[in-house]
Amino acid sequence: MQQVLPLFPETASSVAGRVDQLYFFLLAVSAFFAILIFALVAYFAVRYRRRAGQPAHQIHGSTRLEIAWTIVPFILVMIMFGWGAALYYKNANAPQDALEIYVVGKQWMWKLQHPEGPREINELHVPAGVPVKLIMTSEDVIHSFFVPAFRIKQDALPGRYTTEWFRATRVGTYHLFCAEYCGTEHSGMIGSVYVMEPADYNAWLSNRATGESMALAGKQIFESLSCNGCHRERETSRGPALAGVFGREVVFEGGQSVTADEGYLRESIVNPRARIVMGYQPVMPTYQGQVSEDQLLQLIAYIKSLR
Ligand code: CUA
Repeated sequence: MQQVLPLFPETASSVAGRVDQLYFFLLAVSAFFAILIFALVAYFAVRYRRRAGQPAHQIHGSTRLEIAWTIVPFILVMIMFGWGAALYYKNANAPQDALEIYVVGKQWMWKLQHPEGPREINELHVPAGVPVKLIMTSEDVIHSFFVPAFRIKQDALPGRYTTEWFRATRVGTYHLFCAEYCGTEHSGMIGSVYVMEPADYNAWLSNRATGESMALAGKQIFESLSCNGCHRERETSRGPALAGVFGREVVFEGGQSVTADEGYLRESIVNPRARIVMGYQPVMPTYQGQVSEDQLLQLIAYIKSLR
């Protein structure tokens, strides 16, 4: 397609072709009706122009026509809705086995960290053919992580986690943009995604290995903040044990429950009294302001590693 239409970015992810198909369908439907309407306007203007001896006569509706122009658009928009929803759903749900990479946006750079420890700024190295899930947040304002060649774009929001995922299909270097106006140097908040052969990626990763994985860094923060004073390996009266909590259902005072994900762990650290786990007292102080966004992600990586 890109040979025919050089206006389009490269396609380098598993969903890129499907996004383009939907886009071309929308474009074709819009173009068809726009051309039809303009052609009919021109035709009728000539066909029914004012002529001597031919008075206009009124038409008082046509049920068949009304039904046709209700049902045809209805079917078309339902196709768009169903197609778009299916694609959105596929795009919103990362495969379970996806490689997780943590992203923090700030004015004006992208900070990325691999679970094994290596950090990158405005660069992201990923293996080809492997699903990669980005868990993103922002230190300040809203940014948006946009890789046109992958046809993915997702806002990174302060105070919460959003995710997006992709499976790169072709080795190469692709543009990374911030797609949300975020201040004077928004236009400079750009970077590159390097898609590598899995073997090359593993070599890159071990070359960059610092010996300190995110989980290990998180463990050190956990201990330096004395979190282990209350959260021990066994339940204590002061705080629940954290082993295996990630992905498990947590029941709160009042009977509500939630599946513990990154967002829940984050809330429990920065706003621990928002929801109290059944059987405990609201005694935990907030750590808002004491841990940076990067450290929060490391703490979460540590808690996730406790199985
Ligand atoms: Cu960050 Cu625009």
